[in-house]
Amino acid sequence: MVSSEVAPWAKAGGLADAVGALAEALARAGHELKVVMPRYYRVDRGALEDTGLRVGSGFGEPDATVYSTPLEDSGGTLYLLDREDLYGRDGIYGVPGETDFRDNPMRFAFLCRGALDLCRQLDWEPDVAHAHDWPTALMPVLVAEARAAGSPSFHKTASVLSIHNLGYQGVYPAADFARLGLAPDRFDQAGFEHYGRMNLLKAGLTMADALSTVSPTYAREIQTSDFGFGLDGLLRWRSADLVGILNGVDLGDWNPATDPYIAARYDATDLTGKAACKAALQREFGLPENPDVPLVAMISRLADQKGIGELFGPMYGAAWPICSEMDLQFAVLGSGEAWCERELSILSSRLPNFKARVGMDERLAHVVEAGADFFLMPSRYEPCGLSQLYSLRYGTLPVVRRTGGLADTVENYEQATGEGTGFVFDDLTPRSIYDTVGWAVWAWYNKGEHIDAMRKRAMGRVFSWDRAATEYLALYRRAIARARGEPIEENE
Ligand code: ADP
Ligand code: GLC
Repeated sequence: MVSSEVAPWAKAGGLADAVGALAEALARAGHELKVVMPRYYRVDRGALEDTGLRVGSGFGEPDATVYSTPLEDSGGTLYLLDREDLYGRDGIYGVPGETDFRDNPMRFAFLCRGALDLCRQLDWEPDVAHAHDWPTALMPVLVAEARAAGSPSFHKTASVLSIHNLGYQGVYPAADFARLGLAPDRFDQAGFEHYGRMNLLKAGLTMADALSTVSPTYAREIQTSDFGFGLDGLLRWRSADLVGILNGVDLGDWNPATDPYIAARYDATDLTGKAACKAALQREFGLPENPDVPLVAMISRLADQKGIGELFGPMYGAAWPICSEMDLQFAVLGSGEAWCERELSILSSRLPNFKARVGMDERLAHVVEAGADFFLMPSRYEPCGLSQLYSLRYGTLPVVRRTGGLADTVENYEQATGEGTGFVFDDLTPRSIYDTVGWAVWAWYNKGEHIDAMRKRAMGRVFSWDRAATEYLALYRRAIARARGEPIEENE
């Protein structure tokens, strides 16, 4: 497996959690798993083992030193490629002044080539090379090349590419293609060409033996022009090789019964600890410590994908009327677009019941998940979404837009019966967000017994990485069969 992010080593969003947890689940199931990522500046070499190996791209670039560390106690190994000039910077993809490093195609191309070189040096023939998102989308192309060239290390290797977010495709000037070390004709033949530019994800989606994305609904949505970001035609063409496999929750990291970051531990049989968690959250955010007011929270990358315009847009966003007209508290943890970070601090200074923290803070994310009553996720699109899965697990009822993985994991409240695990709306408008938050708050004040039952029900919903790993294994088998020209067995 190759990835630009693996939790807890480097994380910009859910990709890191998903790759880390899936890798561990596969390794625990007895598979021989090696994960390769860059050794970024923030990853302390002192915590790693120097393997003594050096890997290269094979065309005159400097080599990388290879460090390793066990993947928790799963039996798998994480390898980190250390090359100061490429990865020795703060930031995974960029920094505030340069949000996408100019040399990202080369940085991540080296990662893929280095991973293949590592297999050769370890004399290890993988059955499957699994890549994630645009940064490692070159992997399927390289595997196809190695196979076509009859490379002894990879002649039986199949490639799988998982889409965690189609909104990011790795689109760069066509001139950068020359620096990837591929024959010039591959630009068109392997599908890099996209309106005259180089699109890394498109090449991966063209060349991989099998494709997946992170929820069944998103797998359907990306085949439509509304959600396809220009690649829906390609995805329809590859429809038979594309599946949606829902992410899970890593209970080692996200479990209110064992969470070391939260004020009191609790589970579905006894939620009394949640009250202490709510008080702790109110204290940390400087909100009045009051158990008798509903607390709505959000943890998010502040990006258009997350519905931040409709929620925080100056002049028209729903947050202002929600906080000024409803009896609730609102806490936000997020980082991302500068206008939104600014707006969050303006709202914090003007509204007594609204408080925001800007930045990435893993501990605080746990404090928020445990302490809030409701978790708001008005996403424009959401491939899977992990935050709402964590919320369900913490008895914090999600308020979400019906899209992608949110549609697959949150069950809408039925006022007549009290059924449901959250509150779901369809249209992404400030009005719908306002109405749905209002509805949740209404239920909190008037249907307390429903809310209590929903919390317990939500905590009982199981989103298991072992189940996901089983589905990935079936996908791997299909990819292997396709790569080796064997018949593909259905129903596996
Ligand atoms: P995405 O990957 O699109 O950002 P997900 O819901 O899949 O969305 O995953 C988001 C992950 O990132 C969650 O683990 C969430 O807790 C974490 N996260 C997002 N923003 C922050 C932040 N500011 N501080 C800490 N964790 C954050
Ligand atoms: C992406 C998506 C998110 C998904 C995560 C992990 O960042 O935006 O919906 O949960 O990847 O697969």
